[in-house]
Amino acid sequence: MAWYPPAEVKIPWSAIFDSLLSSSNDFKKYLCDYLQVKYCILGNSGRAVLYLLLEVLKRKNEESRDEVLVPGYTCYSVAASVAKAGLKIRVYDIDPQTLCPDPDSLRRSASSRTLAIVHQHLFGIPTSIDGLKEIAQHTGAHLVEDAAQGLGGTLNGRPLGTMGDFGFYSFGCGKSLPVGCGGALVGKDQNVLSGLEPKVCSRGFTQLITAAATQVISWPGLYWIPEMLPLGLGETIFDPNFDVAGMPLLAQKLAEKSMAILDDLNTHRRHLAKTYKEALDTDYAIPVPKGSTPVYTRFPLMSGPGLIPKELKRFGVRRMYPKAIADEETIKPHLGNQQVSTPGAAQIARNLITLPTHKGITENLAKEIAQKVRVAYQITR
Ligand SMILES: Cc1ncc(COP(=O)(O)O)c(C=O)c1O
Repeated sequence: MAWYPPAEVKIPWSAIFDSLLSSSNDFKKYLCDYLQVKYCILGNSGRAVLYLLLEVLKRKNEESRDEVLVPGYTCYSVAASVAKAGLKIRVYDIDPQTLCPDPDSLRRSASSRTLAIVHQHLFGIPTSIDGLKEIAQHTGAHLVEDAAQGLGGTLNGRPLGTMGDFGFYSFGCGKSLPVGCGGALVGKDQNVLSGLEPKVCSRGFTQLITAAATQVISWPGLYWIPEMLPLGLGETIFDPNFDVAGMPLLAQKLAEKSMAILDDLNTHRRHLAKTYKEALDTDYAIPVPKGSTPVYTRFPLMSGPGLIPKELKRFGVRRMYPKAIADEETIKPHLGNQQVSTPGAAQIARNLITLPTHKGITENLAKEIAQKVRVAYQITR
């Protein structure tokens, strides 16, 4: 029986072999050219480069700014980076209809203690940064764009991640460029970034073997195996004790070779998102701003609460993060605003499901998945 992974794992086999054979390593240059930026630093994950950034901003700040504003519904790793940097997490709410920041909540949360504001493009769906820029300027905070899922997306012609003061990307499984590990940080202020890149301490053979094994195990005839094993696949945990290191050399080479298919992967994702939208024809889909090119690492749908039926799980349908940041017990001790309520974020955590958009899903399969989702969640046109 076929099982489909929920997120992208595809990288070309030729890239895996080439990265072993090739002596060149121009990933940084390729990435900077692609993003039209002058400079970037690489690390072993998105959370690692975010942590390094927050750490240096904290050290450089001469006032007593000790809080970072993060979206009420986001990856727990973002909260983990803030905690690891010894800063307090302050959450702002998200509009469940658009996944955009709630401006009132943002204004209420921002203060003279705000060191940085993290803005995100969840699923690589661009969200306007203008309102946040204004609030960041007004409070004197740094604006950090979380484009972990947004490599290849644009808003008004600008690559996601390059519109704020700083932006970061992830190359983990399920991201736009799913090398299996790695992260990049870009920024306007080179003084902040210079000297920040951690030392590369591993060639990355383990990561390369894992990337190759992931290709094999994600085949629909085999994917039931990791799903049945207690591997904690897709589990979201808050862990500020993560490793911070350079991006392994082989992972850099793999990323460089895989960049050739990035736009093709993103075109496929957008095509499936369009297929889902047309097939579902529902208001539960998240709107995309005019003048933007989304990525759609997955297709989000606010369909309703409850456990996802096994039949849909088999087709890669999953929930995302289980709780709003403010409602997660393990994160609560790190919150600057303990009494905060983020009803929009809580609604997203309850109701959001995601449909797969990766290369293993064909257009016909996407139509079949949409039909199954329609029946399971009683979605009417
Ligand atoms: C929205 C978002 N931000 C940050 C991260 C952190 O990236 P990484 O897993 O590379 O640390 C992720 C990845 O899971 C993410 O999805």
